[in-house]
Amino acid sequence: MIKIVGISGSLRKGSFNTALLLAAAEVSPKDCVLEIASIRGIPLYDGDMEKEIGIPEAVVKLKERIAVADGLLLATPEYNSSIPGVLKNAIDWLSRPPEDIPWVFANRPVGIIGATPGQGGTRFSQTAWLPVLRSLGARAWFGRQLYVSQAAGLFDGSGKLVDEKTRGRLESFMEGFAAFVKG
Ligand SMILES: Cc1cc2nc3c(=O)[nH]c(=O)nc-3n(C[C@H](O)[C@H](O)[C@H](O)COP(=O)(O)O)c2cc1C
Repeated sequence: MIKIVGISGSLRKGSFNTALLLAAAEVSPKDCVLEIASIRGIPLYDGDMEKEIGIPEAVVKLKERIAVADGLLLATPEYNSSIPGVLKNAIDWLSRPPEDIPWVFANRPVGIIGATPGQGGTRFSQTAWLPVLRSLGARAWFGRQLYVSQAAGLFDGSGKLVDEKTRGRLESFMEGFAAFVKG
């Protein structure tokens, strides 16, 4: 059994990205468990806070969850054709102190998915994550791409992914990513 930690880059209750992540957990292969973690409670990065108080508890806990997992899956929104600040902020905190980067990120398989009500399917945002992952020494998975566009028509009112075609693409993504994580 392999364990993947999934993080949504949106704090919104009705988030399409959180809903996509929940759907990914449902369609993951039998020998793969996708645990959903949250970035809620992580403060804005502040070097003075880090110096005076240290790494916030929410960050320490998330680092530990990632470090014991076999892989990491990011469900990223796209803001202004790039990375959403709240998720970048979380990853920046997770990269502190720098001595912990190898433990948390180095060689860790990372998959990226994303959903938007717009047309582009988070292509720009997913692409913008790549140099971030490279700087952390993570192993981004390039085996498949999942750009979910026009998301409002794909989920029902409760956030369930009801579009069968997208569900099939997500299942195929998770199958490939899980195989990559297994190595
Ligand atoms: C500040 C801001 C900028 C946005 N820029 C983009 C964008 O560049 N491309 C896009 O597809 N959607 C953009 N959106 C729309 C988001 O995709 C939409 O709000 C989406 O629902 C966010 O993800 P979530 O549903 O997981 O919260 C933007 C939204 C906000 C708030």
